[in-house]
Amino acid sequence: MPERPYAIPQELVERLRTANKIAILTGAGISAESGIPTFRDALAGLWAQYNPEDLATPEAFERNPRLVWEWYSERRSLVTQVSPNPGHLALAAMERFVPTVTVITQNVDGLHQRAGSTRVVELHGNISRVKCSQEGIVVEHWEESSTPPPLCPFCHGLLRPDVVWFGELLPEQAMREAIKATATCDVFFSIGTSGQVYPAASLVDLARGSGATVVVINPDEKAQALPSFYRLNGPAGQILPQLVQAVWPGA
Ligand code: OAD
Repeated sequence: MPERPYAIPQELVERLRTANKIAILTGAGISAESGIPTFRDALAGLWAQYNPEDLATPEAFERNPRLVWEWYSERRSLVTQVSPNPGHLALAAMERFVPTVTVITQNVDGLHQRAGSTRVVELHGNISRVKCSQEGIVVEHWEESSTPPPLCPFCHGLLRPDVVWFGELLPEQAMREAIKATATCDVFFSIGTSGQVYPAASLVDLARGSGATVVVINPDEKAQALPSFYRLNGPAGQILPQLVQAVWPGA
């Protein structure tokens, strides 16, 4: 999308200047400009014939553990080859001006941490972590196998990515932190998410119900289209740096 200026409402600029706590829900859209395909855009290349919902489930892993492991290995290596984009970097920069900035991400790519954000709540896990499918413990080192997935070095169960699959519960601690940050923030951003997957999508309602100023950033004007929100319709990688500059000139 060509670079263009986005008007940041002056009221929102003032609100952000006086904010003590900001909570930011992010989805796949904030990593799109780093080159990572979103979920509900067409799946790139090799995986075009699969539907994420048919790969990211315990049943899919049960049915075909090798296919699921290889799909995640492909995405894991993609993540190591890409970098945080100006959208991730702008969110990290906010920490220099606002006492508490909590990023609540549905993404599993770790790009917020690599951009420098220090309070990141991973609702759906992290693709760079691997855990035992039997015991659930995270495994740091494993023997690669000629017939993946590799086996847990402790119990010889199959290893799996440490991410939340459809139908699985979100990590309790992460959800608790996300709810606390959302319920107590002055400004809540929802950036790059179609808002179709719960419970993450419920955080926007919690924010609104708690009296926070809600800001949606998404090129799709229909995504999370509810009244009384600030909406900035465009790519996060362009809007966020402009927003940070408008609120904290010279940032
Ligand atoms: P989706 O693929 O559902 O939605 C991505 C959103 O990002 C869409 O609304 C796009 O319009 C928007 N978008 C695209 N490019 C953008 C850009 N440059 N800047 C800002 N927004 C942009 O991805 P999620 O909403 O993250 O769950 O999906 C939520 C969950 O569903 C994922 O975490 C995953 C998936 O199944 C699990 O894996 C459990």
